[in-house]
Amino acid sequence: MSSTSATTQGVIPVHLLKGQKALVTGANSGIGRATAVALGRAGCDVAVNYVAGREEAEQVVDEITAMGVRAAAYEADVSQEDQVVAMMDRMVGEFGTIDILVANAGLQRDAALTDMTLAQWQKVLDVNLTGQFLCAREAVKEFVRRGVVPEVSRAAGKIICMSSVHQIIPWSGHVNYASSKGGVLMMMQTLAQELAPKKIRVNAVAPGAIKTPINRSAWETPEAERDLLQLIPYDRVGDPDDIAHAVVALASDLMDYVVGATLYVDGGMTLFPGFATGG
Ligand code: BGC
Repeated sequence: MSSTSATTQGVIPVHLLKGQKALVTGANSGIGRATAVALGRAGCDVAVNYVAGREEAEQVVDEITAMGVRAAAYEADVSQEDQVVAMMDRMVGEFGTIDILVANAGLQRDAALTDMTLAQWQKVLDVNLTGQFLCAREAVKEFVRRGVVPEVSRAAGKIICMSSVHQIIPWSGHVNYASSKGGVLMMMQTLAQELAPKKIRVNAVAPGAIKTPINRSAWETPEAERDLLQLIPYDRVGDPDDIAHAVVALASDLMDYVVGATLYVDGGMTLFPGFATGG
């Protein structure tokens, strides 16, 4: 799926994040891909992390470098401490520093409770929650070492955790995923509280239903899409660019006083749509 819809160009001010260095995890597809491209459009040099799919990651790199900024593809499994440490070392070595971390990599391994294996539970927690913890920890070491560079940004660093509406909406058949995103909410808020005095801003974006490979079955047939739209007051399924634009805004100094917030980008999915007619 191409991440650059016609809307991206022209929407994002090209100098908004000029000269900043961003790492996006899971940037070879879906929301991560669109976010990496949008950050490039806003003037960032971008490290494109992937765990599998080198070719896709290289395509993202090409798309970003065509805008006149730097990009590189970094293979690393975010749930593996040694790989995250090595990736951050490489980023700081090659890009000079890191200003923005988008902790995006995530996956689903769905099953009803009694069918869910420990491996399915563990994998989702490892990638979605532990992966964000490891990337945040390593990025913050560099933010603190470097401190604020006023010409670059008012903050010493920005972390955007990719969460989900399921950080607050329970989700039958997805207890591993919903638990991981509930964990992301509390991790994000705790880190925001701990790091704000160091001028590091930690926030989250919580997407609703966005057309990406992770939820293809929920939107790819007209019947599935009709069912899904019952849950979305704004009456359209989101695009990866909807999320990418929110990340760019949150990472910028336009949002410098936003600390520890979750920006729901969900067409109203968290507004209890059943109550539009019930209750
Ligand atoms: C999930 C999608 C789902 C959406 C809304 C996301 O976090 O990854 O599969 O469609 O939430 O329920």
